[in-house]
Amino acid sequence: MNALPLDTLRRPLHDLRLSVMDRCNFRCPYCMPREAFGDGYRFLSSQERLSAEETLRLARLFASLGVRKLRITGGEPLLRAGLADLIGDLSLVPGIEDIALTTNGVLLKQQAAALQAAGLRRVTVSLDSLDPAIFRELSGGFDGLSTVLDGIEAALLAGLAPVKINCVVQRGVNEDGVLALVERFRGTGVQVRFIEYMDVGERHRWKAERVVTSRELHTRIHARWPLLPVAPTHPGEVAERHAFVDGAGEVGFISSVSQPFCGGCSRARLSAAGVLYTCLFATTGLDLRAPLRAGASDDELLDLISGRWRGREDRYSELRGLAPTDARKVEMHHIGG
Ligand code: GTP
Ligand code: 5AD
Ligand code: SF4
Ligand code: SF4
Repeated sequence: MNALPLDTLRRPLHDLRLSVMDRCNFRCPYCMPREAFGDGYRFLSSQERLSAEETLRLARLFASLGVRKLRITGGEPLLRAGLADLIGDLSLVPGIEDIALTTNGVLLKQQAAALQAAGLRRVTVSLDSLDPAIFRELSGGFDGLSTVLDGIEAALLAGLAPVKINCVVQRGVNEDGVLALVERFRGTGVQVRFIEYMDVGERHRWKAERVVTSRELHTRIHARWPLLPVAPTHPGEVAERHAFVDGAGEVGFISSVSQPFCGGCSRARLSAAGVLYTCLFATTGLDLRAPLRAGASDDELLDLISGRWRGREDRYSELRGLAPTDARKVEMHHIGG
């Protein structure tokens, strides 16, 4: 068997983010703005998406190349029919130690218990504001705040621990709600993580002035509830964690703009159409579906994947703005963040 592949910066392949559905029931302006993703937008058909069997086969191959952690993403993964069964099968893949899922939370209440029973370990819910009006604006017109909060509660009850919340903070949009989010979830076991607003895809209207840095947020939160840094549990951890001195849990900061973490990036992303991307900001990917459907052997697929990983040079966040290009970046709803 081949040695485990390292990329050109000697980074191993450890995490695979599997997008299982490009559709979403939200229209967050930074990801799927309503004007671009209206009724006329053509999402993937079920034929175009990898089937459960194809996904499973690729997951096994990735695991044999070093992947230990799977994160199921979308679009919105809970829109995918048969998701619990797929997760059940993925949880049995030799080598896979952790399966997590990122969701907007709307369908979580109905599905949390079944997903846990199938083998899902933990869940991360995207929640940018506790203010119903701001929530509505940031989800593209959806009055679903209480449904999402019920989903978080259901995930806790189902034991999908730790439950995490991802909050993308934008200057002048939801930054004033940061302390309310911390207050609401302190002491509940839910870990809130604040993400610096990034220039993912081509649809966002990203401006550097919209980014609220982790340092600034840390200062604000620390002034109210003193914090102590927590050592990372594994190399390349995305969130910097800080514990409340009073023992009420932790918050996390994902400083992808102000302190890029490309040096430890061991993440690959597979779109629902079976295209492999080696960076969140990739402009091209490697189609695995075509060879898969043309009857490629496991060894041929392994050569394709490891060859791509060995040639990987990505470090977009470290270079941001330094190497501008006209090439279009893959959209967020294809690779799930
Ligand atoms: P755990 O630590 O396993 O819980 O997962 P994680 O921290 O990888 O979590 P998650 O997938 O929820 O990542 C949170 C957010 O961080 C994503 O939605 C992205 O916005 C950002 N992020 C995650 N991975 C990367 C990455 O490789 N590059 C960049 N630039 N941002 C990332
Ligand atoms: N910058 C940072 N994070 C983003 N996400 C979506 N768009 C962006 C962006 N422009 C996050 C969402 C969700 C995850 C899938 O990615 O909040 O938690
Ligand atoms: Fe859907 Fe998540 Fe994109 Fe919002 S950020 S539109 S919830 S995929
Ligand atoms: Fe990894 Fe690309 Fe994100 Fe850097 S910008 S951490 S290489 S996904």
